[in-house]
Amino acid sequence: MSLRILVVGCGAVAQRLYGQPLQQLEKAGLLRVAGLVDPVASHAAAMRSRFPSATTHADAASALATTRPDVTMVLSSAHLHAEHTLLALQAGSHVLCEKPMAQTSAECGRMTAAARAANRILAIAMIRRFFPAFAQFKALIESGRLGTLRAFEYREGHKFEWDVTTPAAFRRRHEGGTGVLFDIGPHALDHLAWTFGPLSVVDYADDALSGIESNLTMRVRSTRCPGSIQLSWDNPLTNELRVTGDRGEAVLRIDRFDQLAIRESDGWAVIPVTADFPADLAAAGGRRLSPRSYVQAMSCQIVQVLRSIVLGEAPAVDGESGRRTIAALEAGLASAVPLEMPWLPQRERQAFAQLHWNHTR
Ligand SMILES: NC(=O)c1ccc[n+]([C@@H]2O[C@H](COP(=O)([O-])OP(=O)(O)OC[C@H]3O[C@@H](n4cnc5c(N)ncnc54)[C@H](O)[C@@H]3O)[C@@H](O)[C@H]2O)c1
Repeated sequence: MSLRILVVGCGAVAQRLYGQPLQQLEKAGLLRVAGLVDPVASHAAAMRSRFPSATTHADAASALATTRPDVTMVLSSAHLHAEHTLLALQAGSHVLCEKPMAQTSAECGRMTAAARAANRILAIAMIRRFFPAFAQFKALIESGRLGTLRAFEYREGHKFEWDVTTPAAFRRRHEGGTGVLFDIGPHALDHLAWTFGPLSVVDYADDALSGIESNLTMRVRSTRCPGSIQLSWDNPLTNELRVTGDRGEAVLRIDRFDQLAIRESDGWAVIPVTADFPADLAAAGGRRLSPRSYVQAMSCQIVQVLRSIVLGEAPAVDGESGRRTIAALEAGLASAVPLEMPWLPQRERQAFAQLHWNHTR
């Protein structure tokens, strides 16, 4: 039996990351894309070119009523995730919700409560859980091979070049904007909490004035060790997670599926990356995939959601994990101070501090 899918939001992530794997899984008989929702008809039409039998809709409520999906994929702009997820759960559909799960942890709490009440799966999309090198890095940390961990450093910065189809992420936060914190932040914090244990925020600084931030730094504590995080929407950074312990050091490339290295007493060595994930719905002994592309990682992520529905397995990231990530982002915002910018003249640094959003609010 193939599960009926409703896609809510047919913008960049739907077209670039979901379209191809959904099409392949439909062809393999695992699912059928029954409906596509987007108020912008050209966005829904772009997705429909892959799924000619799907119906298109301008709003989620009427689409849920007419398509009666088994799974709703919430791929709309971030500020709509809570609304669309609640609608889908109330209509009796399981949900895969893109990151960020919501704008506040209170919204996340309502979403997890609704999933419990409806007895439906609420999975949060965290594609990096399906990057083989990330899974092996986590196993390496848990193996104790690096000894007692001292600290980790996480740096991720790119010149923003994701071809969004709407400006939603760039609005002010209270108008639904994500800034880099709620854009890359959920990926980073989910990954770090998954690897090192629950995080608490020590301090947080960003460069937002009246708008949203493009750069931030954060220090956190985890169960295993303290860590620092730097994220940027406009500065290319080293894009790596580096951890040091008293017996060695390991480095993971954040933008690669298969790059992991370890330094022990005899120097640096590359670790072969072979971790794999289920690629079909066989209960045991089925096909597995070690992704080397976003499309393959997305395919594994979707399959895991289907497996959680059909086989009763746990989703990779459930609503409660998603809520904890958003709570950590909120804790950062609550303690926000202006980012240090030592390259500015003293006079401009003072003016920036005066104009910082958390100073003026
Ligand atoms: N996992 C990843 O790596 C990844 C990558 C990019 C984006 N995302 C996430 O996916 C989400 C969408 O991002 P995007 O880049 O596709 O943005 P986008 O702006 O290109 O797409 C959003 C889409 O939602 C549609 N929309 C707006 N109002 C709607 C409504 N009421 N009902 C249904 N659809 C509606 C818009 O018309 C648009 O087509 C964001 O939350 C973003 O953080 C995740």
